[in-house]
Formats: sequence, C-alpha cells, structure tokens
Amino acid sequence: MTAALGKDLVGLEHLSPEQIRLILDTAEPFKEVSERPIKKVPALRGKTIVNLFFEASTRTRISFEFAEKRLSADTVNAAASGSSVAKGETLVDTARNLEAMRIDMVVIRHGSSGAAQFLGERIRSNVINAGDGKHEHPTQGLLDLLTIRDKRGKIEGLNVCLVGDVLHSRVARSNIWGLLKLGARVGVCGPHSLMPRGIEDLGVTVFRRIEEAIEWADVLNVLRLQLERMETGFIPSLREYFRVFGVTLERLERAPRELTIMHPGPMNRGVEIDSRVADGPHSVILDQVTNGVAVRMAVLYLLAGGKPELADAAKRGGGE
Ligand code: CP
Repeated sequence: MTAALGKDLVGLEHLSPEQIRLILDTAEPFKEVSERPIKKVPALRGKTIVNLFFEASTRTRISFEFAEKRLSADTVNAAASGSSVAKGETLVDTARNLEAMRIDMVVIRHGSSGAAQFLGERIRSNVINAGDGKHEHPTQGLLDLLTIRDKRGKIEGLNVCLVGDVLHSRVARSNIWGLLKLGARVGVCGPHSLMPRGIEDLGVTVFRRIEEAIEWADVLNVLRLQLERMETGFIPSLREYFRVFGVTLERLERAPRELTIMHPGPMNRGVEIDSRVADGPHSVILDQVTNGVAVRMAVLYLLAGGKPELADAAKRGGGE
C-alpha cells in the first residue's frame, strides 16, 4: 500500500489532480517495456494478483493481465461462471477465501455500482476497480487522459465531448472527473433519454445536437450504446440513433478544426460511429488500447508501494 494513492483505486472522483498526474507520469516509462522483445521487468516479483471478472471484458481483462505479467506478478483469473459465486457464495466470502491463500491485490469488474469500494472496505488486499456497474471505470479514464495528453500535448484548456449513452456509462463518469480535475472543459451530447438528470451540476456543458458538439470540441470520445443495460424505449431504433447522433465522416468534414476521435470499445460500428471515422486518420482508438497496458502497470506499481521516482529504474530491472 502506498500513501501516494491510498489502498485502493475505485474511481477518479476522489483522486486529486496531483494523484492523477502521478499515475500518468508513472505510466510514461512503462510504455517502453511493451515495445521490447522481452516484455518483462521485475517490479512486482513475488506479488500475487487475482483478476475477478464478473462481467464480460476483452480489453480491460487482457490489458490488466499483460500489465501484471510484464511486471512479473503471479496472476490468477476468476469469472463468476465456473467459480463458487455461481453456487451462491457472496463476493466478500469469495475474496476472503482468496485472501486466505495470501494474495496481494484484487482487480474486479462487477455489474453493481459500488462493488469495488464495498470489497475494498472489507479485505486487506489492494482493490482496483475494472468497471463497476454505471459508476466508474478509472483505468479507462486514465488511459483516455494519457492518450489525449500524448496526441494533443496537453489536457488543460481542451474541449472534450463525450457523445452518446452517458446515462449508462461508467467510462463517461471517470472521464468527466479526470478531465475536469486536469483543467479540460467537458461537454456531453446525446439523446435526452440517455442523459443523467442533473448532469450539468458536475460542471459539464450539455449539447443536444451532434453538429454543435463537433463545432465546439477538440476531442470527441464516442461512447458505446449499452444495449445490454437498457430496457426498451431509450431510443426509437438503432438506425434513427445513427441518423441523429452518429459520428460520421460527413459531419466531421464540417468541423472547424481538427478533431481527435476516441472510443473506449467495444464499438458498435454503424450505430454510434461510422467505420470510416473509427479507422480514419484522426482516430486514436487503438492508441487508447496500447496506453491501457502502461496505465495499468503504473496503477499496479504505485498501489504495490512502488516509488514514482523509481519507475524509470524499475523498467530497467532495478528500483524495486
Ligand atoms: N473499454 C472496455 O472496458 O472494454 P472491455 O469491456 O472489453 O474491457
């Protein structure tokens, strides 16, 4: 555990701007590790980490696993199906049984908002939230911040708009907290039915038309329409949604300045984003995925008590 970040990472809401910058700066030297032929440093040798994924994931689960292995931690993966959760065991009982096997950290994705904090308050191990319900997805928010900083050279003063299903999006919440703390202006744009009530109170500007958002923004972070979290009635149809809110090449061609296009994935091509935009020259969608590994290495390293100033030495094989 480190005083720099506290015991757990459950969200960006309660981190200071300095703590967020610390994670981004610590991620920088770790980027290079993934470019080596032998992608391994000994920084977390001897640490045992359990990845508990109770919801589907491709990017986050595999990215955490790569980050852990590249830091030389021992890792175990568990899912709800195939574990005793399927027989009715509680989350806390599962985690306490894992702790009885002397683990050090738990990475958890869960469908319930607050699950990561709930767990962190009840076990000794460090807990990292890999997405909890509609609450937060802090490492996604951090990798988005790192990608914006890489691409635009700064975060402060930029206009960043989150487009689409803000209501169901934990990615949107982590982005809003992180961007505002680092001095960006934040916009949100989407159908009224997919906008949380009182979202303006967070200090964001609401755009009702995608054309207005595109005119205002330097960066568009396009959110996935979370069909699995919707009952019926949020939108008339997917075709209608794409027609009114889709981020298309034709719309971007009318932008007054160059836009950076982001998407946390998984994408619904032809629903929230046109393939020509997703695969186009202004898209940094795969850079986000690449940065995810470095950001997660930084979070794991700092929570394990790694000294920020030694991250550079850690990547060279010392500085544990
Ligand atoms: N961005 C993200 O959380 O993707 P996964 O659901 O694939 O982990």
